[in-house]
Amino acid sequence: MKQAGVTGLEGVIAADTFLSYVNGSEGKLVYRGHWAKELALHHSFEEAAWLLWKGRLPDASELKACREQLAEGRRLTPALKTLLDAIPSQVPLMSAVMSAVAASNPGEESSAWPPRFHEAIRITAMLPTIIAYRYHQISGTHWPVQADEQQEHAAYYLHALFGHPASEAHTRVLNAYMILAMEHGLNASTFAARVVSSTESDMYSAVGAAMGAMKGPLHGGAPSGVITLLEKIGSKEQAEPVMREMLENGERLMGFGHRIYKTRDPRAEALREVTQALAGEDKWFDLAIHTEQAAIRLLAEYKPGRQLFTNVEFYAAALMRSVHMPIMLFTPTFTAARVVGWTAHILEQSENNRIFRPQSNYLGSLPSE
Ligand code: ACO
Repeated sequence: MKQAGVTGLEGVIAADTFLSYVNGSEGKLVYRGHWAKELALHHSFEEAAWLLWKGRLPDASELKACREQLAEGRRLTPALKTLLDAIPSQVPLMSAVMSAVAASNPGEESSAWPPRFHEAIRITAMLPTIIAYRYHQISGTHWPVQADEQQEHAAYYLHALFGHPASEAHTRVLNAYMILAMEHGLNASTFAARVVSSTESDMYSAVGAAMGAMKGPLHGGAPSGVITLLEKIGSKEQAEPVMREMLENGERLMGFGHRIYKTRDPRAEALREVTQALAGEDKWFDLAIHTEQAAIRLLAEYKPGRQLFTNVEFYAAALMRSVHMPIMLFTPTFTAARVVGWTAHILEQSENNRIFRPQSNYLGSLPSE
């Protein structure tokens, strides 16, 4: 039974961080002193990840080293392939990936406490390969072993998933999405990672715990409602009549409105800019832009004064659709990005650690003395 006073820790400050600043009322998202939007528009996954891990953007030699270490960490060991092969195909993709990450702990002393930077790179590097391997395994398709491991992160992920080099436009949108999904304060999965790490457990276990939290529909659930909306609309001409009918029937337009952001969500803004820059490259880019414009007009007409802006799910879904990402890969892809934030938080937690140990409030009866 839900009791009065259950707040889900809303408004409670549980950690100090230098990693990100989220201000929903002002629509601000900052990663270590840089606007997340600027990073998404002008930088690579590797640069943004380095910034979160190390506190500043990498110089040329650091970027080269980061790329090399990511490339090195991408290859799956035979043991990991055997493990993934042994997991029954009905086991959810996220659960299989979580098991593979936990089992990647090399077991050396160096992989325990304190967590190390090279482990953050290794886990980040291996996730796209594990996801792609498992995806091919359950889809019964051929594992594209020829995916060039030296590519940029987003390009490698698309290549490993689909078996052919990705277009520049698709790589660019996935790169932007992954940067904007990397970090978002003390959300449920990041908190889970910090709690596990605070027990002086290893980084692989802390990331595994974060993945367990991410798997829940209240956190990393797929934005399938937006896909359904866009597919129902189908063409630019249908955007206005389809959505008008929905609003007339009292239905909500998926991808609009947000509990925290009562102004423009900076992540949606950045994804829109990337999408606009690529308009004409893909049918889904044009449909998304047109649908958004029509939705904003209609929401102002039907729901005046409600402060309904485009949320991150809208463009995330449209971009995922445009790169042909199946819905089953939405949450794993979010995970492949957010792992950077988790590992950065785990490293930060270890710098000044104190085990998390909140209190519970006992509501039951006491035995008589
Ligand atoms: N379409 C149409 N009307 C809407 C929408 C929408 N997307 N969102 C809110 N409204 C209307 C409501 O009908 C209500 O109208 P009323 O005053 O006439 O009753 C008013 O705006 C306020 O709605 P609330 O539900 O009270 O607003 P709240 O801020 O609590 O809701 C939420 C936020 C749940 C995200 C809501 O905007 C919504 O349902 N959006 C669609 C689903 C969606 O896009 N979810 C993804 C969120 S992003 C994320 O989770 C990362």
